[in-house]
Amino acid sequence: MRVHWFLLLLLLVPGCDDMHDQVSLQPQEAPRLSSPAQAVPISGKERLAFGQQLANPQPNSRESRQRGASLYAINCELCHGNKDAHPGPVGKELNPPPPQLRDSHLAAYDVATLYQLMSLGVGRMPPFQQRLTQTERWHLVNYLRSND
Ligand code: HEC
Repeated sequence: MRVHWFLLLLLLVPGCDDMHDQVSLQPQEAPRLSSPAQAVPISGKERLAFGQQLANPQPNSRESRQRGASLYAINCELCHGNKDAHPGPVGKELNPPPPQLRDSHLAAYDVATLYQLMSLGVGRMPPFQQRLTQTERWHLVNYLRSND
């Protein structure tokens, strides 16, 4: 047991030195006003709320709807079912069951509302914001509003 701890220390000690020498913010340092030159830019966090006006960046093409269809089969069908079988096997356990989404009533929803419903979740439905990328969710919107 003692030998194991020793080996672990050997692994950790050189790593700590490296980390101390890097350009990251040190404890008690004043806030940095601009990023260091070698910082990698990342896109900001997605901020979403019901009622926001959003445009669909994903053209409603056949390819997009097909991507949406396969995402639907993986992520949604278990609860919501499909045109022929509603609800899905998990949805059957819910009372009342999840609404039928393949009966074209969603064509009346605007794209932003659909995107927000699936991203933020609604009632007993979990949010998909962390589970699916933005692009995947827009593919799903295109599929849901179609009769495919
Ligand atoms: C765990 C089961 C479950 C899963 C998985 C699920 N949903 Fe739902 N969904 C529900 C339930 C239940 C409701 C109704 C809300 C309520 O009554 O609590 C709902 C409601 C909705 C609504 C609103 C429908 C309306 O007529 O207002 C949309 C849109 C929707 N879901 C889309 C999706 C999409 C897209 C997916 C997959 C990415 C998905 N759901 C996955 C359970 C689920």
